[in-house]
Amino acid sequence: MERIRLDFGNLLASRLDGGIDETLLVGVLADRFRAAHAAVEELRGTGVLGFYDLPYSAETVDRVVELADGFGQWFQDIVVLGIGGSSLGAVSLKEALLGPGWNDRSEESRDHFPRLHVVDNPDPVTLSALLDRLQPAQTMFNVVSKSGATAETMAQYLIARGWIEAAVGADKARGHFLFTTDPSAGVLRQIGDAEDIPMLPVPENVGGRFSVLSPVGLLPAAVCGVDPHALLAGAADMVERCATDELTRNPAGVLGTLLHHADTAMGQGIHVLMPYSDRLRPVALWYQQLWAESLGKALTRAGEKAETGPTPLASIGATDQHSLMQLFMEGPRDKVVLFVGVDDVGISMEIPDRHPGIASIAYLGGHTLEELLDAERAASAEALRLRGRPNATLHLPRVDEEALGQLFMLFQIATVYAGALYDVNPLDQPGVELGKRLTYGLMGKEGVERPELAEADPRWVL
Ligand code: PA5
Repeated sequence: MERIRLDFGNLLASRLDGGIDETLLVGVLADRFRAAHAAVEELRGTGVLGFYDLPYSAETVDRVVELADGFGQWFQDIVVLGIGGSSLGAVSLKEALLGPGWNDRSEESRDHFPRLHVVDNPDPVTLSALLDRLQPAQTMFNVVSKSGATAETMAQYLIARGWIEAAVGADKARGHFLFTTDPSAGVLRQIGDAEDIPMLPVPENVGGRFSVLSPVGLLPAAVCGVDPHALLAGAADMVERCATDELTRNPAGVLGTLLHHADTAMGQGIHVLMPYSDRLRPVALWYQQLWAESLGKALTRAGEKAETGPTPLASIGATDQHSLMQLFMEGPRDKVVLFVGVDDVGISMEIPDRHPGIASIAYLGGHTLEELLDAERAASAEALRLRGRPNATLHLPRVDEEALGQLFMLFQIATVYAGALYDVNPLDQPGVELGKRLTYGLMGKEGVERPELAEADPRWVL
């Protein structure tokens, strides 16, 4: 397997003015990481970090493949309904592995695999526009909710159910649904059991944002021909690489430890992920959720006030060189930029030599588009380094299943290391509960009091 590589030289003092002193890598940071690694191993021992085991859950993968190859192929359109950790992984896999414009391609060029739509936000404009384009008889909904209680997903499920029933009748409607949910609890499981709807489990010990390599991400990808075994092989390889407690040999250790140090000791709490590949754009959003929801916490694990956590920022190269890069180069020194480059993009597009007499564009002729994109990535990393702005680069050999499996596992492990270093629980998200409860109250959920929202003060409304 070709491995992804993390080049973190541009974070270190030997290359970067004001960078991290290398002696720390074998000194205090090495010790700190060893303790974090031990804490994570202890947590693994308690069984709560189920994402580590996903690469080895053969039985679940067999069930995913069976449903994807059988049931999934009866339909022309698969619609995933889910939000947060229940959608971002599927979108990332779709864009990275199926490539841009999958749904616009002809059936032949999709090898007769179905189109794939992922609907997360309960925006009626989006959902109704999608339903207007689809044929109910040819459409399957994969409803993804670990809890089975998420308002956005369940509301859209109810609409989808009504839409299908109106077209094919109540009896046949259940044949258009596949639920991905908790293995034993929750309303979706209850409905699925009662109506004999096919279901896939999100293991009890795998939280939403750590679930991309569970049926949550695997089913939608496999329905469209992605090889789940190769994804999981990549992830397993990363688990192995991260088995060591020696900091400089553990890629997730380096990522978690150096980003934590950058935030807490160097005032660099904004962590940008900037892939130079349109196909990896959603991966940056997936990372954003993982890093933010896992590490932004009010309390330490012992329950003391923390109010801690880095701010992740999704960016895209080269597009954001014409937007955010000015800020990265000259704004506050509070950021670390993590670039992602792709060695082999699998296609080559030559730039024609058309205006040899016009020097301002003639230099482009004879090069390729992928050369330009990669030159921009390398140049941005160097420009930041020259200005004393910390950055690192993840190199992917290709955008394929194995590389994606490695990448997802790398960030997930880095996140739990960072959780140990920040001394917070990376697996919960208590901060979103209040807003949910207020929404339930506003929507009239039984047992929840209707809240009195603070009135707008007319003096401060223009
Ligand atoms: O990471 C998380 O736990 C969340 O983002 C959840 O994935 C999100 O809230 C959706 O939850 P559920 O899968 O229960 O519908």
